[in-house]
Amino acid sequence: MKQFAPAKINLYLHILGRRPDGFHELETLMALISVRDILEIDIISADAGIEFACSDPALSDAKDNLATKAARLFLDEFKVSIGVRIHLEKKIPVGAGLGGGSSDAAAVLRAMNTLTRTEAPVARLAELAARLGSDVPFFLHPPAAICRGRGEIIEPINLRDDLQGVLVHPGFGVSTPWAYRAYAQNPRAGEPGRAFADFTLRNDLEPPAFSKYPWLPTVKNWFQKQPEVIGALMSGSGSSVFALTRTADGQGPLTARFRTEFGATLFAETFSVAKRIG
Ligand code: C5P
Repeated sequence: MKQFAPAKINLYLHILGRRPDGFHELETLMALISVRDILEIDIISADAGIEFACSDPALSDAKDNLATKAARLFLDEFKVSIGVRIHLEKKIPVGAGLGGGSSDAAAVLRAMNTLTRTEAPVARLAELAARLGSDVPFFLHPPAAICRGRGEIIEPINLRDDLQGVLVHPGFGVSTPWAYRAYAQNPRAGEPGRAFADFTLRNDLEPPAFSKYPWLPTVKNWFQKQPEVIGALMSGSGSSVFALTRTADGQGPLTARFRTEFGATLFAETFSVAKRIG
């Protein structure tokens, strides 16, 4: 069974405070984008266990992987005795604040729910999803939602703006636990950017990430000066930065100019905010 696992961007991310469990209370607007991983998930014999292969050799360790953890959790929780083979074609940069691993995990839960004819309701899958990571439940409620709590309390919304742009990644990641720890040591709101119909761009994890990684504010500022761009922001805990463009027309030239300015081999992809999954 083939499943698409889209990335998300955070159009705003407000940190409301520290919780007794060590996590941070959030309000964040997440939206799926057209950049996506592709998974092939099949049932195999029970004694084969969980088999995993990935187009990115760095991610081929089946034990330390959200997709295989999701498969294991599903089998344990619903007491299903089958084996599962997962092939992951990785297109979403890793450690990028794009929820790639979380989206893969949600795709595995969805596929297994169908393949095993368990047909658990979304709320039940979301409960499992929250155990795998704070933003995994969002990927079961696409395409855009305001997420609160740790990120697991989901209020789906319809975005009024047609959004598209360019997404870039520097080739290094930012550790999410580090970003939240650094925020906690020096809590500062992110700088608000342009206001759209449903949101104002802002990410409270920018100040800590920007002070440690100067590439990030340099790229954001550069984007904000380009004529096609109507707003730019770091996504999640970084390290990817997205620029929203007025129309889809400017995306190609903007991507090319970014590569000339910052490096020809860097990840730079045009994207649109997904209207529906798949
Ligand atoms: O839930 P997830 O594994 O994505 O979170 C990674 C880390 O990010 C957590 O261990 C925690 O340090 C931090 N975090 C947080 N508050 C959140 C989400 C994540 O402090 N709402």
